[in-house]
Amino acid sequence: MDGEKAAELALDLVAEGEVLGLGTGRAASAFVRALGARVRAGFSVRGVPTSQATADLAEECGIELLELADVESIDVTFDGADEVDPQLNLIKGYGAALVREKIVAAASRRLVILVGPEKMVETLGERGRLPIEVVPFGVVPVMRRLKAMGYPSIVREVDGDRVVTDNGNFVLDGEVASIADPSALDREITCIPGVLGTGIFAGMADNVIVDDGAAAMMLQR
Ligand code: A5P
Repeated sequence: MDGEKAAELALDLVAEGEVLGLGTGRAASAFVRALGARVRAGFSVRGVPTSQATADLAEECGIELLELADVESIDVTFDGADEVDPQLNLIKGYGAALVREKIVAAASRRLVILVGPEKMVETLGERGRLPIEVVPFGVVPVMRRLKAMGYPSIVREVDGDRVVTDNGNFVLDGEVASIADPSALDREITCIPGVLGTGIFAGMADNVIVDDGAAAMMLQR
């Protein structure tokens, strides 16, 4: 998806003067670019980015940025996702920004997710992969524990190098099938010492905008 239709519909949800959470990935970038065009035309909003990549893009687009520590709360966050189930539970993190994305989402009054139809699943886990951010010191014991729980994992690499998140951590990709209870699995994995967070966002999204390239439609939780 190029995400332009979703970005246009998402912009209708933004009011002048709001503080927006800015997600990471292709769909979120399409939104940031569309927002930038509006800002250049004189619209005033400020953004809290979920990654350095998004911060760089937002700056290029002329969007004023704020530190998360400096805002009371965020009005709306716009982000992408890797899987969306019928209850609008999500798997995120194929782009490795999951922990910052979850922190920003949790600090937001509303979370709006932008996806293509290929991300819609019947049950989370269908794409077979659950991203988990882990402190490098704990990576081996965490992997052993995950394996004992039935979720073998690999350390994510790109071109032979371990991916390092903006927080200085590694990302594990856990092998999953259908996840019967996303909240329970999220809690169970997050309890393992060394785990910073999983890509399961259960009960967090308020709206999902699905863009098939020709049109966008909005789902509500
Ligand atoms: C980043 O860590 C992810 O959670 C992204 O939001 C997710 O991977 C969706 O990205 P795309 O819009 O690029 O598919």
